[in-house]
Amino acid sequence: MRIVPLGVLISGGGSNLQAIIDQIEAGRLSAAVRVVISNVPDAGGLKRAERHGLARQVVDHRLFPSRQDFEAELVRILNEHGVELVILAGFMRLVGPSLLSAFPNRIMNIHPALLPSFPGVHVWQNEVDHGVKLAGCTVHFVDQGTDSGPIIIQAAVPVLDDDDADGLAARILAQEHRIFSKAIQLYAEDRLEVTGRRVHIRGVDPNAGRGVLIHPPLEA
Ligand code: GAR
Repeated sequence: MRIVPLGVLISGGGSNLQAIIDQIEAGRLSAAVRVVISNVPDAGGLKRAERHGLARQVVDHRLFPSRQDFEAELVRILNEHGVELVILAGFMRLVGPSLLSAFPNRIMNIHPALLPSFPGVHVWQNEVDHGVKLAGCTVHFVDQGTDSGPIIIQAAVPVLDDDDADGLAARILAQEHRIFSKAIQLYAEDRLEVTGRRVHIRGVDPNAGRGVLIHPPLEA
């Protein structure tokens, strides 16, 4: 199987980056992280990249006169490292036309909600405040909107009565770590077919995954 060259963009702690690295090192993900780019100079994820001997760069958006200039630098670095698929792993900047047009349908983002519910920021607090019973996370291709592109895979996570934003975030994050690598592996296996908003996954067992998740559970 071919190895997909990844460029991973981060802004923070990089636990999703770590999960991807771990899957690659365990031989379960046919990809290679060619470069990690952070727009935040002291992002914790840079240390993780260093520990694994990965190329890393800081591109501080505040030092560029426009989003276009910032993204031109991102594209230059991604191309320099031969990146095919761009992974937004906690990258907290909106993606504009310069980056999108350089990697059409080749930018994946993870968002800690069941999109299209709760796009943007302050997701976990908003979910708790709204009283939803099921929260979750979504991996999607990036388009010109905010958290709006074609959805590849989602995981639903029950919200517990005593959840606060931090507790819920931690339980969602554990599922993020599972589904992001899965989505990248499906890409590596050339099984993702995007038609408009729909992402068809080739070769899925039609009898698998038909269970429903009801929370709170119904009486037996
Ligand atoms: C993750 O929860 C990710 O879903 C979220 O930031 C966190 C990054 O954690 N991303 C977004 O909200 C993007 N809209 P990490 O740095 O530990 O991977």
